[in-house]
Amino acid sequence: MPLKVAVLVGSLRANSLNRKAAELLVRTGPKVLGLEVVEIGDLPLYNEDLEENAPREWQEFRERIKASDAILFVTPEYNRSVPAALKNAVDVGSRPYGANVWNGKPGGVISVSPGAIGGFGANHHLRQMFVSTCWSCSNLKPIWAAQANFLIKVAGWQMRGPANFSLVSSRLMPSG
Ligand SMILES: Cc1cc2nc3c(=O)[nH]c(=O)nc-3n(C[C@H](O)[C@H](O)[C@H](O)COP(=O)(O)O)c2cc1C
Repeated sequence: MPLKVAVLVGSLRANSLNRKAAELLVRTGPKVLGLEVVEIGDLPLYNEDLEENAPREWQEFRERIKASDAILFVTPEYNRSVPAALKNAVDVGSRPYGANVWNGKPGGVISVSPGAIGGFGANHHLRQMFVSTCWSCSNLKPIWAAQANFLIKVAGWQMRGPANFSLVSSRLMPSG
């Protein structure tokens, strides 16, 4: 029985390098991981006032995360942090108080950037968020992909595949 790994992509744009990386992993990554993208672009902005009658999108998202065995974030860096859409998804999943759906899930972070440091700031901030939201207290494993435009153009990602995939699997497995 494969694991169920929810893949959250931090970029909403159609031609996103991060989405390409995520989709490549979903398509050709180890079947045992059961990777599946969970969309975050339609989640209403978090507002605690809405909890009494929580938006359907929040409820569905929380159920999808609850049903997952592990989480894989694939995100760009925006102004040395994570894009607002991804922060919103983290906030939605962390509430209402006492019902944090991230708790206890192993996870990994891949940050992809055309820049030289591979989205280090986003990667680091995301892991910092999970120190305070107490993600199995907080064991998010980082992977950085720098100069992604260059890698895609010259190497075409596929050539990077096997090395990246084994790293991803080893980091998402319960014993990893
Ligand atoms: C609002 C905004 C802020 C950005 N800030 C950074 C940054 O801090 N560091 C960085 O390496 N790239 C930054 N970039 C460039 C992104 O890395 C680049 O646009 C990347 O392709 C976005 O990821 P995507 O291709 O998955 O959409 C920024 C882009 C935007 C739109």
